[in-house]
Amino acid sequence: MIRLSRPYFSDVEAQALTEVLASGMLIQGARVAAFEAAVRDHLHGLGAPPAPALHCLAVSSGTTALELCLATTPGGVAAGDEVIVPALTWPSPGNAVLLRHADAVLVDVDPATWNLSPAEVARALTPRTRAIIAVDQFGVPAEVPALRALASDLDLIEDAACAIGSTLRGHPCGTLGDVGTFSFHPRKVVTTGEGGMVVTRDAARAERLTALRNHGQRSVGVFVGAGPNARLSELHAALGALQMAKLDEMLSRRRALAATIRESLSLAWQSSPEGSTINHQTLGFVLPAPTSGPFAGDRRAARDALVAALREGGVEAGILSYALHRLPQFAALGVNNVRRFPVADAVVDGGVALPLHPSMSDDDAGVVVEQVRRHAAWALGERAVRL
Ligand SMILES: Cc1ncc(COP(=O)(O)O)c(C=O)c1O
Repeated sequence: MIRLSRPYFSDVEAQALTEVLASGMLIQGARVAAFEAAVRDHLHGLGAPPAPALHCLAVSSGTTALELCLATTPGGVAAGDEVIVPALTWPSPGNAVLLRHADAVLVDVDPATWNLSPAEVARALTPRTRAIIAVDQFGVPAEVPALRALASDLDLIEDAACAIGSTLRGHPCGTLGDVGTFSFHPRKVVTTGEGGMVVTRDAARAERLTALRNHGQRSVGVFVGAGPNARLSELHAALGALQMAKLDEMLSRRRALAATIRESLSLAWQSSPEGSTINHQTLGFVLPAPTSGPFAGDRRAARDALVAALREGGVEAGILSYALHRLPQFAALGVNNVRRFPVADAVVDGGVALPLHPSMSDDDAGVVVEQVRRHAAWALGERAVRL
């Protein structure tokens, strides 16, 4: 089976983990600092200017990173406040808003990039809006500068969970907003198993975040408020530093594989904004609604059948993303029931994720192309029988 995703590890990581265990130092040591420095150096290497200083703070997951960002939004986010979130995404950004007892106001995404549409966001702004969470969907940069132009006083949180290594017009993802977050979940370009990072140039906010991730403790025994244990362990950080050393290699392999597969199949791929570079975190396309054949008029059934057929053929395809307005916690908010989300619906119902990871061979890419060609025509009703 050609796996949908696969971490790019070798014996080097196993050796590093053994060394951490032997050191007896499992938290808050040199490896966390080294991982944070590696991410900071990488962001500078991609064009992030040296000043004001970039603070990179390792935390336990990308979800925790988002929760800490909202906990440090200037002026606070609380009951009665609204935060704008794309309707199409993993639930974490929306859940983080609900966990602060605020309203997650869902907004439909752009049909080409599948990212927040500034025009839709403009329509959703109210005097209660406190922040915007802009997700770099599947590693494609969101138009954060256009969102900033809409409202200079809102906290712009860039959820770059999927976007390490991507850039928008010379600026690295993760640094486009007031604060940015990364995830190091196993499906991400850089993985530590579980892990995340918060990035900001705001020194005072970085200081609050540093205390907050560690029970609200500013220095040993000095507590500035209540905080979770959101620390990343030395074991995870050791993996992270080694992954960062391989990042350029992993990115170029992903880009080459994605180019081969995309150029061989004419499908409705996710597109990226002018002047952006993409890490190819996910290789996804949207199946159109079939007009004939066994699934005529039922895009979701056609997609599910295609995914099943690809898996039978040895290609571990998957669904692409989630429609937050269909999840009970967001549907319960009246503001989300009066809106429509046609683009998010189409991407969720027709979206197919194809395998893409650095250890895939050129032959694997050929099998993916051949299997998609073979089964998509049948799922779309262009051919009566499955070959
Ligand atoms: C856009 C987005 N935000 C947040 C997260 C949460 O990251 P984590 O799994 O590290 O908590 C993910 C992925 O899992 C994601 O895709």
